[in-house]
Amino acid sequence: MTKQFEEKKFNIPSLKGISTKTIEEHLKLYAGYVKNANIILAKVDEYSEDSNPLVGAGEEHAYALGEIQRRFAFEFNGMRNHEIYFSHFVGGSTAPTAGSPLMKAIEEEWDTFDRWLKRFKTLATTRGVGWAQLLWDPASGRLLNNWVDEQHLGQLSACVPILELDMWEHSYVADYQPSGKKQYVEDFFENINWRTVEENFAKVHQ
Ligand SMILES: [Fe+2]
Repeated sequence: MTKQFEEKKFNIPSLKGISTKTIEEHLKLYAGYVKNANIILAKVDEYSEDSNPLVGAGEEHAYALGEIQRRFAFEFNGMRNHEIYFSHFVGGSTAPTAGSPLMKAIEEEWDTFDRWLKRFKTLATTRGVGWAQLLWDPASGRLLNNWVDEQHLGQLSACVPILELDMWEHSYVADYQPSGKKQYVEDFFENINWRTVEENFAKVHQ
Protein backbone atom coordinates (compact mmCIF):
# COMPACT_ATOMS: atom_id res chain seq x y z
CA MET A 1 0.00 0.00 0.00
CA THR A 2 1.46 3.31 -1.09
CA LYS A 3 1.74 5.95 1.63
CA GLN A 4 -0.55 8.91 1.07
CA PHE A 5 0.10 12.64 1.27
CA GLU A 6 -2.62 14.23 3.38
CA GLU A 7 -4.55 17.35 2.51
CA LYS A 8 -3.94 19.99 5.18
CA LYS A 9 -6.64 22.28 6.53
CA PHE A 10 -6.15 26.02 6.96
CA ASN A 11 -8.16 28.32 9.19
CA ILE A 12 -8.00 31.48 7.10
CA PRO A 13 -9.67 34.65 8.42
CA SER A 14 -11.37 37.15 6.13
CA LEU A 15 -8.71 38.95 4.14
CA LYS A 16 -8.24 42.37 2.66
CA GLY A 17 -8.94 42.22 -1.09
CA ILE A 18 -8.86 38.44 -1.47
CA SER A 19 -12.41 37.12 -1.18
CA THR A 20 -13.56 34.09 0.79
CA LYS A 21 -14.84 32.66 -2.50
CA THR A 22 -11.37 32.91 -4.06
CA ILE A 23 -9.80 31.19 -1.05
CA GLU A 24 -12.44 28.43 -1.16
CA GLU A 25 -11.88 27.79 -4.85
CA HIS A 26 -8.13 28.00 -4.41
CA LEU A 27 -8.20 25.41 -1.63
CA LYS A 28 -10.00 23.06 -4.05
CA LEU A 29 -7.12 23.49 -6.50
CA TYR A 30 -4.67 22.70 -3.70
CA ALA A 31 -6.62 19.53 -2.90
CA GLY A 32 -6.21 18.51 -6.54
CA TYR A 33 -2.44 18.68 -6.25
CA VAL A 34 -2.49 16.43 -3.17
CA LYS A 35 -4.76 13.97 -4.94
CA ASN A 36 -2.66 13.89 -8.09
CA ALA A 37 0.64 13.55 -6.22
CA ASN A 38 -0.87 10.47 -4.56
CA ILE A 39 -2.21 9.12 -7.87
CA ILE A 40 1.19 9.43 -9.54
CA LEU A 41 3.00 7.52 -6.80
CA ALA A 42 0.34 4.80 -6.89
CA LYS A 43 0.73 4.55 -10.68
CA VAL A 44 4.51 4.33 -10.35
CA ASP A 45 4.04 1.38 -8.00
CA GLU A 46 1.55 -0.23 -10.35
CA TYR A 47 3.55 0.27 -13.55
CA SER A 48 6.80 -0.84 -11.93
CA GLU A 49 5.39 -4.31 -11.31
CA ASP A 50 5.31 -5.73 -14.83
CA SER A 51 3.40 -8.88 -15.55
CA ASN A 52 4.94 -9.45 -18.96
CA PRO A 53 7.69 -12.09 -18.60
CA LEU A 54 9.21 -11.15 -21.96
CA VAL A 55 10.51 -7.83 -20.68
CA GLY A 56 12.46 -6.83 -17.61
CA ALA A 57 10.98 -5.29 -14.47
CA GLY A 58 9.60 -1.82 -15.19
CA GLU A 59 10.20 -2.06 -18.94
CA GLU A 60 6.67 -2.94 -20.02
CA HIS A 61 5.51 0.51 -18.90
CA ALA A 62 8.81 2.31 -19.31
CA TYR A 63 7.38 5.19 -21.35
CA ALA A 64 4.36 5.67 -19.11
CA LEU A 65 6.62 5.55 -16.05
CA GLY A 66 8.94 8.15 -17.55
CA GLU A 67 6.06 10.50 -18.33
CA ILE A 68 4.34 10.29 -14.97
CA GLN A 69 7.64 10.69 -13.10
CA ARG A 70 8.13 13.92 -15.03
CA ARG A 71 4.72 15.10 -13.83
CA PHE A 72 5.47 14.34 -10.18
CA ALA A 73 7.43 17.54 -9.48
CA PHE A 74 4.51 19.59 -10.82
CA GLU A 75 1.98 17.92 -8.53
CA PHE A 76 4.25 17.64 -5.47
CA ASN A 77 5.46 21.23 -5.63
CA GLY A 78 1.92 22.38 -6.35
CA MET A 79 0.96 20.74 -3.07
CA ARG A 80 3.86 22.14 -1.02
CA ASN A 81 3.83 25.63 -2.56
CA HIS A 82 0.15 26.04 -1.71
CA GLU A 83 0.61 24.74 1.84
CA ILE A 84 3.23 27.41 2.46
CA TYR A 85 1.14 30.13 0.76
CA PHE A 86 -2.06 29.38 2.70
CA SER A 87 -0.17 29.01 5.99
CA HIS A 88 0.88 32.68 5.75
CA PHE A 89 -2.76 33.80 6.19
CA VAL A 90 -3.42 31.66 9.28
CA GLY A 91 -3.62 33.69 12.50
CA GLY A 92 -4.30 37.00 10.76
CA SER A 93 -2.12 39.90 9.75
CA THR A 94 0.93 40.74 11.87
CA ALA A 95 3.96 42.92 11.19
CA PRO A 96 7.48 41.53 10.91
CA THR A 97 9.42 41.54 14.18
CA ALA A 98 12.12 44.20 14.29
CA GLY A 99 15.49 42.73 15.22
CA SER A 100 14.38 39.12 14.63
CA PRO A 101 16.87 36.63 13.14
CA LEU A 102 14.89 36.76 9.88
CA MET A 103 15.02 40.54 9.77
CA LYS A 104 18.76 40.48 10.45
CA ALA A 105 19.28 37.96 7.64
CA ILE A 106 17.22 40.09 5.23
CA GLU A 107 19.21 43.20 6.19
CA GLU A 108 22.47 41.31 5.78
CA GLU A 109 21.48 40.38 2.23
CA TRP A 110 19.63 43.49 1.06
CA ASP A 111 20.68 46.18 3.61
CA THR A 112 17.08 47.10 4.45
CA PHE A 113 13.76 45.30 4.73
CA ASP A 114 12.19 47.86 2.38
CA ARG A 115 14.78 47.18 -0.31
CA TRP A 116 14.10 43.44 -0.08
CA LEU A 117 10.34 44.05 -0.18
CA LYS A 118 10.59 46.29 -3.25
CA ARG A 119 12.66 43.67 -5.07
CA PHE A 120 10.34 40.85 -4.04
CA LYS A 121 7.29 42.77 -5.28
CA THR A 122 9.02 43.45 -8.59
CA LEU A 123 9.85 39.75 -8.88
CA ALA A 124 6.27 38.77 -8.04
CA THR A 125 4.82 40.97 -10.76
CA THR A 126 7.05 39.51 -13.46
CA ARG A 127 5.20 38.21 -16.51
CA GLY A 128 3.91 34.65 -16.53
CA VAL A 129 2.36 32.35 -13.95
CA GLY A 130 4.32 30.87 -11.09
CA TRP A 131 5.64 31.64 -7.64
CA ALA A 132 7.69 34.33 -6.00
CA GLN A 133 9.74 32.76 -3.25
CA LEU A 134 12.04 33.84 -0.45
CA LEU A 135 14.38 30.89 0.08
CA TRP A 136 17.09 29.98 2.56
CA ASP A 137 20.15 28.35 1.04
CA PRO A 138 21.75 26.29 3.83
CA ALA A 139 24.87 25.63 1.76
CA SER A 140 25.82 29.29 1.54
CA GLY A 141 23.89 30.62 4.54
CA ARG A 142 22.08 33.17 2.38
CA LEU A 143 18.54 34.24 1.67
CA LEU A 144 17.60 34.26 -2.01
CA ASN A 145 14.63 35.62 -3.93
CA ASN A 146 13.53 33.21 -6.63
CA TRP A 147 10.90 32.82 -9.33
CA VAL A 148 9.39 29.43 -10.20
CA ASP A 149 7.50 28.98 -13.47
CA GLU A 150 4.34 26.90 -13.07
CA GLN A 151 4.94 24.89 -9.88
CA HIS A 152 8.38 23.47 -10.39
CA LEU A 153 10.46 24.99 -13.16
CA GLY A 154 13.31 26.91 -11.62
CA GLN A 155 13.17 25.40 -8.13
CA LEU A 156 16.59 25.82 -6.51
CA SER A 157 18.08 22.58 -5.20
CA ALA A 158 18.29 22.10 -1.43
CA CYS A 159 16.92 25.59 -0.74
CA VAL A 160 14.12 25.89 1.80
CA PRO A 161 11.07 28.12 1.19
CA ILE A 162 10.59 30.76 3.88
CA LEU A 163 7.85 32.78 2.16
CA GLU A 164 5.86 31.99 -0.97
CA LEU A 165 3.47 34.10 -3.02
CA ASP A 166 1.19 32.45 -5.57
CA MET A 167 1.24 34.42 -8.82
CA TRP A 168 -1.01 32.13 -10.85
CA GLU A 169 -4.00 34.08 -12.13
CA HIS A 170 -6.48 31.93 -10.20
CA SER A 171 -5.06 33.57 -7.04
CA TYR A 172 -6.33 37.03 -7.84
CA VAL A 173 -8.14 37.53 -11.16
CA ALA A 174 -11.68 37.02 -9.79
CA ASP A 175 -11.09 39.74 -7.17
CA TYR A 176 -8.66 42.07 -8.92
CA GLN A 177 -9.01 41.45 -12.68
CA PRO A 178 -5.78 40.90 -14.65
CA SER A 179 -4.90 44.58 -14.35
CA GLY A 180 -5.01 44.38 -10.54
CA LYS A 181 -1.98 42.13 -10.16
CA LYS A 182 0.08 44.77 -8.35
CA GLN A 183 -2.70 45.48 -5.87
CA TYR A 184 -2.98 41.74 -5.13
CA VAL A 185 0.71 41.69 -4.24
CA GLU A 186 0.26 44.76 -2.03
CA ASP A 187 -2.71 43.16 -0.28
CA PHE A 188 -0.88 39.85 0.18
CA PHE A 189 1.67 41.66 2.33
CA GLU A 190 -1.14 43.44 4.21
CA ASN A 191 -2.73 40.08 4.96
CA ILE A 192 0.11 37.80 5.99
CA ASN A 193 1.07 36.72 9.47
CA TRP A 194 4.80 37.34 9.67
CA ARG A 195 5.09 34.85 12.56
CA THR A 196 4.61 32.08 9.98
CA VAL A 197 7.50 33.41 7.93
CA GLU A 198 9.71 33.84 10.99
CA GLU A 199 8.89 30.31 12.15
CA ASN A 200 9.84 28.88 8.76
CA PHE A 201 13.16 30.65 9.07
CA ALA A 202 13.71 29.52 12.67
CA LYS A 203 13.36 25.88 11.59
CA VAL A 204 16.31 26.10 9.23
CA HIS A 205 18.52 28.82 10.70
CA GLN A 206 20.50 28.22 13.87
FE1 LIG B 1 -2.56 28.50 -6.67
